[in-house]
Order: sequence, then C-alpha cells, then structure tokens
Amino acid sequence: MKNIKIFDTTLRDGEQAPGCSMQLDEKIEIAKALEKLKVDIIEAGFAVVSPGDFESVKTVAQIVKDCTVASLARAVKKDIDAAYEAVKVAVSPRIHTFLATSPLHMQYKLKMTEDRVLEVIKESVSYAKNYVSDVEFSAEDATRSEPVFLAKAVFTAIEAGANVINIPDTVGYATSADMINMLTYLKQNVKNIDKAEISVHCHNDLGMAVANSLAAITAGATQIECTVNGLGERAGNAALEEIIMALNTRKNYYGGQSRIDTTQIYRTSRLIYNILGIKPPLNKAIVGANAFAHEAGIHQHGVMAKRETYEIMTPQSIGLPTNKMVLGKHSGRHAVEDRLKELGYTLTKEELDSVFESYKDLCDKKKVITDIDLEALLKHKKIETAGYKLIRFTVNSGNYVTGNAVVKLSLEDKIFEEVAIGDGPIDAAYKAIDKIIKGGKRSLESYSIHSVTEGKDALGEAVVKVKSGDDFVTGRGLSTDVIEASILAYINAVNKLN
Ligand code: KIV
Ligand code: ZN
Repeated sequence: MKNIKIFDTTLRDGEQAPGCSMQLDEKIEIAKALEKLKVDIIEAGFAVVSPGDFESVKTVAQIVKDCTVASLARAVKKDIDAAYEAVKVAVSPRIHTFLATSPLHMQYKLKMTEDRVLEVIKESVSYAKNYVSDVEFSAEDATRSEPVFLAKAVFTAIEAGANVINIPDTVGYATSADMINMLTYLKQNVKNIDKAEISVHCHNDLGMAVANSLAAITAGATQIECTVNGLGERAGNAALEEIIMALNTRKNYYGGQSRIDTTQIYRTSRLIYNILGIKPPLNKAIVGANAFAHEAGIHQHGVMAKRETYEIMTPQSIGLPTNKMVLGKHSGRHAVEDRLKELGYTLTKEELDSVFESYKDLCDKKKVITDIDLEALLKHKKIETAGYKLIRFTVNSGNYVTGNAVVKLSLEDKIFEEVAIGDGPIDAAYKAIDKIIKGGKRSLESYSIHSVTEGKDALGEAVVKVKSGDDFVTGRGLSTDVIEASILAYINAVNKLN
C-alpha cells in the first residue's frame, strides 16, 4: 500500500470561492476539525494577501500540532517573507510557492519568457528553502503547459530545493488520461524527480477533479490537494471526502492509503457547511442527505436482506450513525448530551445548559429534534454575540398594505422599541432595528434563508452579510419562524459591527 498524503486547502483555495470567506474564529474551528480528521497538511491561507489572512495563517500555525501548516506565496520575496513569518511557529512549517508555466499564462499574465520563468523558479524556491526545509513548488496551469518546458521547470524547482512538486489542473481542463500521461512523462524525463514528492491539485470545472486526482495516484502521485465538500475557486477543488472514500472502498484497485480518520468526515463536512450557511446538494456524494438514504421499495428490501446489495460503504464509516435515537420534548439533558457526544461534540457544563435551554424552547415548536437541528442549535449558541437582544417583534404585511414592524430590543437593562415601515416585513423590521442601534451607515449586501431540516416545522436559518465602511460581517439567525430568524440574523450582524 502506498501512503497518500492529504493536503487540505479548504482554508485557502476553499475560501477563495465566492461567498465562502470566513472569520478567524471559524477558521480556527475548521483547522481543529481538520487536525482531528488527520489530514497531513493544512494550507491555512495566503499570508501576504491581507493582515487578516496573515493573522489566520499564524494562528492556525500556532494551534495545530499534528499536521504540517502551509502558507501559499507567489514566487516573489515579499510573499515568501510573509508566508515564512506566518508559518514559522508551526511544529512543521511549509512554504508553498507557485508560478505559472503554461504558454497562455506566461505570455499574457506574467509577461515572462520561458528562461525568465526558470530563473524566477530557481530564485524563489531557493529563497524559501533558506527559511524552511519543507518547500512545495506548484507549476500553475501545469496541465496546459508544454510537457518539455514543464519538465524543465520541475527539474529547476527540485534542484533549487523543492521537496514537493505540485501539478495543478488549475482550470479543470485535463482528462484523467492527460493527468496520467503528464505524470508519466515527468517521471521519465525529469532526472531528479525521485528527490521530490509528486502532488496534484485538480479543479472541478468539468466535474472531473476527483477522478483526475485518483488517476494521478495510479500514475505515482503521493500527495493530493483537495478541500472538504469540494469547495474552491469556481466549480471548486477535488472533494476530500470523495477521494478518501474512493481510496478506502476501492483499496485493491488504488493500492493507496491515507491516515485520515474517516469517522470524522461527516462532522467536518457539516461544520463547514454550517459555517458558510449553505447546504450540501441532496445527492452530494458521501455527505449529501441522500447519500445513505434508500427510498425505493426494491432497494429498501435489498438493504434489509443484505446491506451490501445497495450500499458500498457504511454510514458509520464516515461518522454517521444509522441507529438514530429520536429526541423530543420528553428527552432529558443526558439524552441530549449523549447524542451530541455521538455527533462528536463535547460541551462544557455551561455550554450544555445553554444548548439544553434552546433545545427545550425548540421542543415547544417541533415534535422531533433531529441531529441537524441539534447541530444548528449548537452552532447558533456559539455565534451568539454580546450586545442587543430581541425581546419581541410584531410585523404586518400583505399585498395591499405597506409592510410595517415594531421591534423591541434590550441592551443589558435598557429596553428600546421602534416602529418602521418598509418594503415588506423584513425590510421594515431591519429599519426599526437601524433606528434603535445607531452607528455608521450600514448596507445589507446579501440575505438568504434556508430550512435546516425538512417539514413545515423546520428550523429556518437566515444568513445576512452587512457592510459598514470597510467592515463586512456575516450574521446568522435560527428559528422555526422565518421572520424571527431574519431579525435575529440582522441583530447578530449589527452586534458584530458595534
Ligand atoms: O489552482 C491552482 O493552480 C492553485 C495553485 C496556486 C496551487 O490553486
Ligand atoms: Zn487551485
């Protein structure tokens, strides 16, 4: 069995996806989950991009002990300096530097000749190597590069000290055969290739990222770059959970193994979806709600007679218990605590008290509390902000009346009440809140609401993005009433701004 290293770039390439930016505390939570999942390398960010990015790479480097922590850096000194400053505190730091090698990128983006590109690779890799022993070089747009030139670039990077060579399919253009041919060509034509680990980084523009990553393993790649839930630029990167479960389920075919604890997959995936306020498509492989659901009678029959008839993996292998215990209003604190433990959450007494209080409130509105409800409650407890609290609201709307709202908030022992009209009940409520909570000019940049669970008593989660000057925050609210969820989300956001 070959050992396959998993390089997770959820916090870097994943975060580059539109609408997927995260705050520091969220990144820390994800990094801890990735460490528990046992990925080998966490690419914590692109340190030079902003002080916020630098801080988050540095914090992850400080916290994570059991994984290598990498920062991305263009092949320029100031990026490499920032990457080093951010990762140097890590137990195992890595600098990941990159430069494009395809004719298209070299001519139009870099405006560099081939010779200049080789010089820059040499300079930047050796510069990074002076800082750390673990240096990865990525030949951006490798799969659209001329193989002869790519081989020269790879040779130069290894000679300058790169111990990992990454071959990205930056625009998701390659077929699996292209990946195999490219890696085979490099193995045969780069004299020093044995001195470096070969990695691939596949994008999903044609829906082939996972297949291409797996094909690369058959051609000798021993590091795979991927993201949880396949997040990433445009159509995303190869999905970690799909690669891992393919490697495990088809062990004999791939002959590769990773150190990933597969039982952490479900939990990590949900954590990230929850943080981003999005839901997986129902049919998402491995972690979608239907991935282990059998509805057709014929299938149910088969599974009951012999699970393997329609299931190639067990739900337990990804940390999803099938023996769901139904929680409801008669369940006590212990049952809730046990269920949360099974889902991988260990709470302090205070945290449990607070979640249990919300759980009881929810039981008045919903008969059955599912795992997803519990996780949603937990997440919302964590993001509750100090500041204004909702006491009560009344809204009035209809197709012949102007939306209006009365909102009552408290701040410590003070009570405030305002009324406003607006373009519908939510706009009216937000205007009433704006009258109460003063501050700079705020604008609502985006608003979305989705149901966390199914059924007419489902919990609705509202997610708003609010801008004030240079500050941009995300607010979330949870309730079985969508208007209440929307109001809570806005208060959550405005509290963060204040
Ligand atoms: O897609 C890509 O080429 C990248 C590199 C920076 C590795 O993300
Ligand atoms: Zn990428």
